[in-house]
Amino acid sequence: MTASNSDDAIVVEGLRKHYGDVHALDGVDLHVPRGSVLGVLGPNGAGKTTAVKVLTTLIQPDAGRAIVNGIDVVKDPAGVRRSIGLAGQSAAIVEELTGRENLEFVGRLFHLGKARSKARAQDLLEQFGLTDAAERRAKTYSGGMARRLDLAASLVARPDVLFLDEPTTGLDPRARNDMWGVIRELVAGGTTLLLTTQYLEEADELADNIVVFDRGKVIAEGTSDDLKDTVGGDVVEFTIDDANDREAALAAVRSIDTTDPTLTDTGVITVRAGDRGSDRLVEVVRALDSAQLRPQGLGLRRPSLDDVFLALTGHVAEESADSETATERVGG
Ligand SMILES: Nc1ncnc2c1ncn2[C@@H]1O[C@H](COP(=O)(O)OP(=O)(O)OP(=O)(O)O)[C@@H](O)[C@H]1O
Ligand SMILES: [Mg+2]
Repeated sequence: MTASNSDDAIVVEGLRKHYGDVHALDGVDLHVPRGSVLGVLGPNGAGKTTAVKVLTTLIQPDAGRAIVNGIDVVKDPAGVRRSIGLAGQSAAIVEELTGRENLEFVGRLFHLGKARSKARAQDLLEQFGLTDAAERRAKTYSGGMARRLDLAASLVARPDVLFLDEPTTGLDPRARNDMWGVIRELVAGGTTLLLTTQYLEEADELADNIVVFDRGKVIAEGTSDDLKDTVGGDVVEFTIDDANDREAALAAVRSIDTTDPTLTDTGVITVRAGDRGSDRLVEVVRALDSAQLRPQGLGLRRPSLDDVFLALTGHVAEESADSETATERVGG
């Protein structure tokens, strides 16, 4: 990424936050140009929510600096709060209120006045496809609807900078796609967005730039293509159910792949396709066939966060420092 400048809506330098021995943020630098989307990608416990909490003034950092919309989060938290929106990891809606009441309530909190609160609520219900459910209590909403209502609530005051903490975690593919559509529209309207996610695919869909967090540190940054290059393009994946055949299968794919295929405890073998794409898939099929091995679930897929992690760190994404890695890295 380029150096930060005054066109940045978010600037973070040397940010630290620890809980006892856990360094939730261990010296994080990042910046988000105005009108752009930064995807903060990382597994459970990487420090994503902690970063969002510091930037939205819910907690104070131990060290470092964070500027949002030109305002220091420690020196003027109220000023920061006035210019941002947040949809946190757990929805902040009031279950006993209807969708419409929730949005009007937030409008009143932001001193929009009764008439403007009502009008804004109506606009947002329409924008988020919630008009049919507007008079129902929020506790009857599906997961996807609750997320949309929560996002709508974060937009009542028309913030310049929006923070979304894992907006689609737990949603089914259709609800996730709907949410992506909504987020894309917001971004097209010029909102600066910092979005956390555990899915490379999601960052790929929505973010201009991506930073990868691991144990409180930024371990990689760049565009989605940059990250996929670390993995080496798509991956061929298949499973060998019979544990006795796994080494033979590895040997077979190694004969065609000079990089390093990986094997998990459950017999999943992953081969980097590089720029060979589906040709590599065909090569794998032939190699396994010559060795008289029967793969299950053979296919070509886009790299996941796990693949990026493995390529960057040599271990799979894991929550705690002491747990054993689930994937054995073969060769390289
Ligand atoms: N209030 C707290 N007290 C103690 N430890 C905490 C607290 N909040 C976070 N942590 C620890 O800090 C680390 C980072 O947590 P954080 O919630 O920022 O991760 P995350 O990337 O948001 O994970 P997830 O994807 O699961 O939401 C974790 O090890 C977590 O256990
Ligand atoms: Mg989190």
